[in-house]
Amino acid sequence: MQRPYPSGVTIRLPTACLVVLVGPSGSGKSTWAESQFRPEQVVSSDRLRALVGEGPHDQRAGKDAFDVLDLVLQRRVSRRLLTVVDTLGLDVARRAAYLTLARQHGMPCHAVLFDTPAALCRERNRARDRPVPAKVLAEQIRAHGNTRAALAGEGFDAVHDAGPVVVVPAVMLAAPAAASRQEDHPMSLRFGLQVPSFTWAGDLRDGLAALAVDAEEAGFSSLWVMDHMLQIPQVGREWDPMLDSYTTLGFLAAVTKTCRLGALVTGVTYRNPAHLAKIVATLDVLSGGRVVCGLGAAWFEREHRVYGWDFPTRRDRLDLLEDALRLLPLMWGPGSPPFEGHRVRIPEAICYPRPVQARIPILVGGQGERRTLRLVAQYADACNLFGGPDTVRHKLGVLARHCAAASRALDDIEVTHLSTVLCAPDRSSLRDRTEAARAPGTTPEAFAESVNAGTVDDHIGRFRELAEAGVHTAIVSLADLATASAVADFAPVITAFRS
Ligand code: CTP
Ligand code: MG
Repeated sequence: MQRPYPSGVTIRLPTACLVVLVGPSGSGKSTWAESQFRPEQVVSSDRLRALVGEGPHDQRAGKDAFDVLDLVLQRRVSRRLLTVVDTLGLDVARRAAYLTLARQHGMPCHAVLFDTPAALCRERNRARDRPVPAKVLAEQIRAHGNTRAALAGEGFDAVHDAGPVVVVPAVMLAAPAAASRQEDHPMSLRFGLQVPSFTWAGDLRDGLAALAVDAEEAGFSSLWVMDHMLQIPQVGREWDPMLDSYTTLGFLAAVTKTCRLGALVTGVTYRNPAHLAKIVATLDVLSGGRVVCGLGAAWFEREHRVYGWDFPTRRDRLDLLEDALRLLPLMWGPGSPPFEGHRVRIPEAICYPRPVQARIPILVGGQGERRTLRLVAQYADACNLFGGPDTVRHKLGVLARHCAAASRALDDIEVTHLSTVLCAPDRSSLRDRTEAARAPGTTPEAFAESVNAGTVDDHIGRFRELAEAGVHTAIVSLADLATASAVADFAPVITAFRS
């Protein structure tokens, strides 16, 4: 057999995608699909003819097979499962129906064209046990003659020539072009490492120290821990180890030399805010002026309940956040002024020693458009966003309007971004790591999407797009942090953005 695809050009497909094959009988559609996808991802009219009829070529079972095919597609697309429609694809109305279905579920729809020479299709057809009648094949080949032009106007997200496939998270679809922009005209971007869990094998303390040293060596310019009492459900199990944030940062201050340190982000509900100012000032002194004070409104109700703390309403928590944003600089500044906020009253804002930094930068976590981003514009030095470049652009537009209202320059605000990353040097090791880290019960595609699984080049492209959208510092949480090579494997991405 010849290689399963006529063209050598790699097809990039997003993890959630409907793929419509188009080509006459014998053009190699099923062979290509089998070589590039798992069997359950390929919905084939011939296999369904065999299932509901007497065999893959049972013409009388055609209508039943297509009824089942339509139902299966509908169900798979509604679950956003990567699906390949293996039919002739020559029927314009059917193609339109597949596109409509994909659109209804906000799923991209790509076509893959099999431009196999007619003579080869005929030759392969003749060699089959049950050849398609020559006249029927001739008619398919004739119909196929116009499909390239027709497909171009039908609204597919992309039309590809059959080739080898890579499936990538949607945010990495355009990564190759973005990575070459970065190579040709580099932009600079700082990187931070978030350490949200402590589950590596071996001694926890030694492992954390080694991780911090490796991170600094790899070029990370900041290290972040979460401020939680219990591991959060997004990351792990409630009984996984969860170190206290500021005690841990004190330890990290001692084992590192240059990187900034912070909690991403400190929940304002957990401590009296004057006490928080004292803790942060102490860390600033003992780290030699390397603290960033991350602040947020807190959200994890359960840990408030189990620790016996109040969990105020969202509005009250945002009031508390505003109080902290106003109080902290007073605590760190000269004198000992009184403070009266929405919910906090401090008779004397007194804290010695004063921090090393003239102004400890305050980063606000959260991207709520009405209040949180307004508080950023009014009081903060940095914001922390998440999502793709379009989301970042949108949020920065909102922030710009709040800045204008607060007579603040948007450029004063450091834009940070948090995302999960699974990074490997090449595609085959990425596949291995995805399999090693993937929770049973999630598809490789859903897992890849959830952790932004990509090669070094994919990540360079993705971060280039985020830098273009306005991000200054990308904070990453490595999905395979407990693996010894995780930090070193990400280092080439950092290097690509060093100015
Ligand atoms: N084949 C091949 N080399 C390829 C592709 C296909 O030798 N690169 C052979 C297959 O082994 C098969 C025949 O050509 O015997 C037809 O390929 P197939 O993938 O089944 O073609 P389809 O386009 O799926 O044809 P149909 O529409 O009839 O299902
Ligand atoms: Mg086939």
